[in-house]
Amino acid sequence: MANFETVEVTTDLLILGGGMAACGAAVEAAHWAKKHNVKVTLVDKAAMDRSGAVAMGLSAINQYVGLKDGENTLEDYVKYVRNDLMGITREDLVASIARHVDSTVHLFEKWGLPIWKDAAGKYVHEGRWQLMINGESYKVIVAEAAKNALGISNIIERVFIVEPLMDGDRIAGAVGFSVRENKFYVFKAKAVLVSMGGAVHVFKPRSVGEGLGRAWYPPWNSGSSAYFTIRAGAEMTCQEVRFIPVRFKDGYGPVGAWFLLFKSRATNAMGGDYMVERKPELQNWLPYGNVKPVPANLRNYLGMLDVMAGKGPIYMRTEEAIQKLSEAVQDPKERKKKLKELESEAWEDFLDMTISQAILWAGTNVEPEVKPSEIAASEPYFIGSHSGASGAWVSGPKDLAPPEYFWGYANMSTVKGMFCAGDASGASSHKFSSGSLTEGRIAAKEAIRYIVENNTQPKVDMAAVNALKAKILKPLDLFQEFKSASSDPDINPNFMKPKMFMFRLQKAMDEYGAGVTSQFTTNKMALEKALELLGMLREDAEKLAAEDLHELMRCWENVQRLWQAEVHIRTILFRQETRWPGYYMRADFPKMDEANWRVFVNATWNPKSGDWKMEKKPVINIVK
Ligand code: ADX
Repeated sequence: MANFETVEVTTDLLILGGGMAACGAAVEAAHWAKKHNVKVTLVDKAAMDRSGAVAMGLSAINQYVGLKDGENTLEDYVKYVRNDLMGITREDLVASIARHVDSTVHLFEKWGLPIWKDAAGKYVHEGRWQLMINGESYKVIVAEAAKNALGISNIIERVFIVEPLMDGDRIAGAVGFSVRENKFYVFKAKAVLVSMGGAVHVFKPRSVGEGLGRAWYPPWNSGSSAYFTIRAGAEMTCQEVRFIPVRFKDGYGPVGAWFLLFKSRATNAMGGDYMVERKPELQNWLPYGNVKPVPANLRNYLGMLDVMAGKGPIYMRTEEAIQKLSEAVQDPKERKKKLKELESEAWEDFLDMTISQAILWAGTNVEPEVKPSEIAASEPYFIGSHSGASGAWVSGPKDLAPPEYFWGYANMSTVKGMFCAGDASGASSHKFSSGSLTEGRIAAKEAIRYIVENNTQPKVDMAAVNALKAKILKPLDLFQEFKSASSDPDINPNFMKPKMFMFRLQKAMDEYGAGVTSQFTTNKMALEKALELLGMLREDAEKLAAEDLHELMRCWENVQRLWQAEVHIRTILFRQETRWPGYYMRADFPKMDEANWRVFVNATWNPKSGDWKMEKKPVINIVK
C-alpha cells in the first residue's frame, strides 16, 4: 500500500470546507467556543483566500432584506423564495436566514468590503434584494475575518475530505488526504459541520474541448457535501432541483446586473422578446406563472421554447439598454459622462466575478454599448443556494419550525451531530453568498450548543479507519502496479483515469438525465437507462487510478459526482410530474401536479444495506 503517514487530529467541532458558509461558521464558532472552552478545527480542500463559490469574486450580494430600513419584511422574502421555487421550499429555513442576513452584510462592510453607495450614503440596489459591490476581493476579505477569528493553528488547508466516520448513528469525524504531501488525515470530532459546496461537472458542460472545465459554478466543487452526507446516512432533500442559470454564452458572465440594474431585454434572432411573446405559456404553470418576478426556471423555459423553435441565438441587448439609460440624461455633456460610466460598470460586472467573460468580450471585439451579446442556458448544477435547492434535510430553528421540521438543533441533519450549511443544506434556496455565510453562523452556534449538551468524544473504530485508508489510496497503488502495461498512461487495460471516468458520467447524465444535448428533457425509460449506466460506472470506480496526489483528488471528486448523479436521477424518477420546466422536463409527465406533488421528495441511502429509501415530506407554509 502507498506509504502515507497517518495524521490524527482530535477536536470538538470540525468544520469541513472553507467557502462562505465555512467562514461564517468559523467566525461564529470562535465566539461561542471561547465561552464554552470548545476546540474548533477547519479543514479546506484549497486555500481559504480563494476557495468555494465566491473564490473569483462577485459583483453583487444577492440577499439583503433591509429589515431595519423597512425596505422589506421577512414575509416578503419567504414569499419570493417560495414562488421562485414553484412552491417547494422550507419556509422556516428561509426565514431563519433572512432574519439575520442583514447583519452579515453589515459585517462584510466592517471587514472592508466596498458596497456601492448613492449620494445620500445608502446602498445601491441592483434589484429588490441585491446590492452592488466592488467584489473582486470579496472572498479574501471574508477569509481574513475567519482566519483572525479561529486562529491559523486551527485551520488546515489543502486536505481533501472523502468519507465520514461514524459511531453508530452519531457522526464521529472524517477522513481525507493532503493534496500536497503523502499524509492521510483522521479527524475525530464531537460535531461536524458540513459546508463543502455543491457540484459541478456532473453534466456534460457546453464547452468540451476548447474551454474544457469552464462552467458557471466553480469546477472544484465536486459534490463533496452530498457524498459525505449521503454516506453518513443523512436524509437528502430536493435532489431533483438542479440549477440552470442563463449566462452570457461561453464565458458564463452574470446576467443579473443587465436584467435588473440596466433593465435590459433579451431577444431572439428575429428580434422578438420571449418574455413578452411567450407570456401566455405562463398560464400553464399557475399559480407560479402569475407571480412577480417570474420564477427563474420559467424565465429559462420561455427562452428555451424559442431556442427549440429554431429562433436562437438569444441576445442580451446591452447596446439598447446602455443607449436607453444614457438617453435619459438631458445635458449632452452629462450624457456622455453617463455613457462612459455605464460602459465601465458593464466591464466591471464581469471583472469582479467572471474575468473570463471580459477576456472573451475583449477577444471577440465586443463593445457592449455597440453590439448585443449571446446568452444561453448553461448545463445543470447542484447547489443548495442561488436558485438551486439540493442538499441535506436539516432541522429548522425551534421558534420557526413546525414539529415536522424540528429535531433539536437548527441546521442539524438527520444524523446526530452532523450540521449542514450553504450548498450542503437543502430546500432553502436564494441564500446566495450572504445567506450562506449567515447559515454557517447559525449552524455553528447550534453545533457548539450540541457539543456542550453532548460532551463526549464518539468512539472511532481504527480498524475501519485503516480499511478506509487502503480504499482511498488504492488508485495510487493501482497505477503503480499496472502503469507499464501500456505506453500511454491514460490508456490501460487494468485501470481508468479520472478524466475518462468523468466523461462517461457526463455523457450518461447529458443524454439520459436531461442535459443540454437532450434539451433538458427526459422520461422514465431514459432515467432507468441512466441508472443502469451509473451502476456500471460504480463498479468501474474500483478501477480508478491516480498518477499523483492531484489525480487522487480527481478520482475521489468523480466518485462524489457519481453519487450526486445517482441521487438526482432517483429523485427525478420518483417525482412523477414536471414541476420546474426550464430546469428539467419529464416528457412522460409534462404537467405540474399540485394535488399529488406539492411535496418534498427526500432520499436516504442506508449505509448498512446499500438501499435507497424515497419518500414524500409535506410542504408546510409558515407564511400565509
Ligand atoms: S449572480 O449570482 O451571478 O449574480 P445572476 O446574475 O444570475 O446571479 O442574478 C443575480 C440576481 O438577480 C439573482 O438574485 C437572480 O435571481 C436575479 N435575477 C436575475 N435575472 C433576473 C430577472 N430577469 N428577473 C428577476 N430577477 C433576476
